[in-house]
Amino acid sequence: MNRTKTGIPGLDELIEGGFPESSSILLAGSSGTGKTIFGLEYLYRGAMDYDEPGMYATLEEGPQNLWWNMQRFHWNFLPLQKDNKIQILKFDPRPDDTDMDAQLSKIVEKAHEMGAKRLVVDSITALMFWTERSERVRYSVYNLIDQLRSINCTTVLTCETTGGKSNISRFGVEEFLTDGVIQLFFNPPNRAAFIRKMRGTDHSKKIHPFAIDENGVSIDPREEILWESIKD
Ligand SMILES: Nc1ncnc2c1ncn2[C@@H]1O[C@H](COP(=O)(O)OP(=O)(O)OP(=O)(O)O)[C@@H](O)[C@H]1O
Ligand SMILES: [Mg+2]
Repeated sequence: MNRTKTGIPGLDELIEGGFPESSSILLAGSSGTGKTIFGLEYLYRGAMDYDEPGMYATLEEGPQNLWWNMQRFHWNFLPLQKDNKIQILKFDPRPDDTDMDAQLSKIVEKAHEMGAKRLVVDSITALMFWTERSERVRYSVYNLIDQLRSINCTTVLTCETTGGKSNISRFGVEEFLTDGVIQLFFNPPNRAAFIRKMRGTDHSKKIHPFAIDENGVSIDPREEILWESIKD
């Protein structure tokens, strides 16, 4: 199986070298757990270290916050954007149920157009602007993942949760559709990451310390955090 190296320090060695190529990974966590920074770093490392073009589709976060993050972590996105190695796509969700799949297909179309090998959709929880019905979301996310697989794009879908360890997704269906699930936790002052599933991969079953510092995000592959210390 080919692997897409995430380039996130500490992560690849916990998942046999990287995400399975063309897979979709759910990155779940409550507000402020580091989902957006993780997503940006995944694209930045892909473009800088592995020469893989990537697209960041944002469904809600204003470019302002992305810009702050890029500057703050000294990631020089501008030349990568100029070289078409990174593209940022801003979506304005409209409360029109019929429009949802067309919008998602547009993400796939644009990713295909630029030859993206990596994609971040931040966040799929924003689909609730269109609908609250989990069966509707299930259908649309299934379709999205299917289309992304056919263009060989390895995708991180972020998802907002309430933060408890058994709260994996917003609609209760996303974790069944994706090939992998990574949960991020923040129990102040401690941050942690847990690889809950990674299809076709003998992954770490431990909860690892996760950090956000001046270099971006990182995971400590050698240290373990006790399951009991994470709030439910
Ligand atoms: N330079 C930095 N050094 C250390 N920690 C930082 C730095 N910049 C941001 N952070 C931490 O990262 C958090 C924000 O991370 P991020 O925006 O990725 O979270 P998120 O999971 O996307 O949140 P949301 O669900 O609100 O979008 C901040 O609240 C802060 O705790
Ligand atoms: Mg965010």
